[in-house]
Amino acid sequence: MVAARITVNGKDTPISPAAPHTTVLDFLRERGLTGTKEGCAEGECGACSVLVARPGVNKPTDWVAVNGCLVPVAALDGQEVITSEGLATAGEPGKQPTLHPVQEEMAVRGGSQCGYCTPGFVCSMAAEYYRPDRCAHPDPADGANLADNAEPAGSADAEHGPNGFDLHALSGNLCRCTGYRPIRDAAFAVGTPTDEDPLAQRREQSPPAPVATAYTREDAAFLRRSTLTETLQLLRERPDAVVVAGSTDWGVEVNIRSRRADCVVAVDRLPELRELRVGSDSIEIGAALTLTEIERRLDGRVPLLAELFPQFASRLIRNGATLGGNLGTGSPIGDSPPVLLALEASVVLADADGEREVPLADYFTGYRQSVRRPDELIRAVRVPLPLSPVVAFHKIAKRRFDDISSVAVAFALDVEDGIVRTARIGLGGVAATPIRSLATEAALEGRPWAAETVEAAAQVLRGEGTPMNDHRASAEYRSAMLGQSLLKLYARTTEAVPS
Ligand code: FES
Ligand code: FES
Repeated sequence: MVAARITVNGKDTPISPAAPHTTVLDFLRERGLTGTKEGCAEGECGACSVLVARPGVNKPTDWVAVNGCLVPVAALDGQEVITSEGLATAGEPGKQPTLHPVQEEMAVRGGSQCGYCTPGFVCSMAAEYYRPDRCAHPDPADGANLADNAEPAGSADAEHGPNGFDLHALSGNLCRCTGYRPIRDAAFAVGTPTDEDPLAQRREQSPPAPVATAYTREDAAFLRRSTLTETLQLLRERPDAVVVAGSTDWGVEVNIRSRRADCVVAVDRLPELRELRVGSDSIEIGAALTLTEIERRLDGRVPLLAELFPQFASRLIRNGATLGGNLGTGSPIGDSPPVLLALEASVVLADADGEREVPLADYFTGYRQSVRRPDELIRAVRVPLPLSPVVAFHKIAKRRFDDISSVAVAFALDVEDGIVRTARIGLGGVAATPIRSLATEAALEGRPWAAETVEAAAQVLRGEGTPMNDHRASAEYRSAMLGQSLLKLYARTTEAVPS
């Protein structure tokens, strides 16, 4: 097998002698690329953001921003990375480099004070700058530069600039000293890449193909096989292996809890786990598609998932995180399980002998435990069709974005002729596992979608699960929010709050 290598800012760089658990962030900094910073080391500040060439949604390649602190550098064997240093164009000897357009806007609009967060912001901003469909929906009525306005009046919505810049691209970047208005000004002022821009041109070529990797140092190994069959065979031989896709959980374990797995197996580039199929009776979503890829490829086709995505961590995390990973870690406060429970999704589990399909409602067996055996992989998530039309996902957290939920509720209701025909409700944060809200579903089904029914069902919902007291919220608050979620959904459908 060829020695593991990575292309950084156009330069071929051997990964050795980094340890298999070395993150991209540490790897870059140890090689002098200290623009990439460490703030939190757990995916919450974006100071470590770098760009990676990935399979594109609308072009062969997308420049995707990821948290360098969470991704093992061995996972990028054969891949291309751009850092903040690589965005600027080197000048002639003795002359200053030419700033990239996003760096220029950040500089002239006062988007940087101490500068610690700036390289991360610049990389996240550059990913959005190069998003091929960014300018597809600019507000035609707004020819003015939004950066000169106090409020984004005239833009399609408060989260998009007239240049199509989606502020969610920066939802994973924190700044302690500048304040966000000048940064938003810079984001809303960037233009479109020129035809000569080398990173824009790079999008027209295929991204680097995934390569099989067997990177070992001392007793630890990072392994990537080329096919699902080979991977499943490996998992049968190594039941102790830690399976990673986007590594958004792995990175936290390594950095914060100092975990060092003997064997890490990467599944994020397996073609069998990266398909999205829309059939007549179901939608099958590959377990290793990133949440960003699912969001862009479904393009609102599953409205409940469309409500979930903006609330799931940040764009930086969604660029790596997968549904397979979110279900695989089995956290009771994972954001996707309540939604997938409400959608009555099932999980397709594969092992070396074949596949089995398990309803998600039967998948979790205890705190971070499931029916998945160590030699099994989640290959896909299957969502049955047709979809229920009345849906909502309410995530109650201290921050609107990039936060962990205190409690989460997903609704999927069929209301016909004023009667609730079916109700499916998924809950997170109220038990050791994500659960279905069966008693509340029963309290709604067959009854009129009316204030009296909803109030009674909300009372039932407040009693579901066994919410606990912790630093995020009290049990009473969690219970109260459950009931409030149903009242809010009802208000949204009727525009009248039940008294
Ligand atoms: Fe904070 Fe990576 S260092 S997200
Ligand atoms: Fe200082 Fe953002 S410029 S933290």
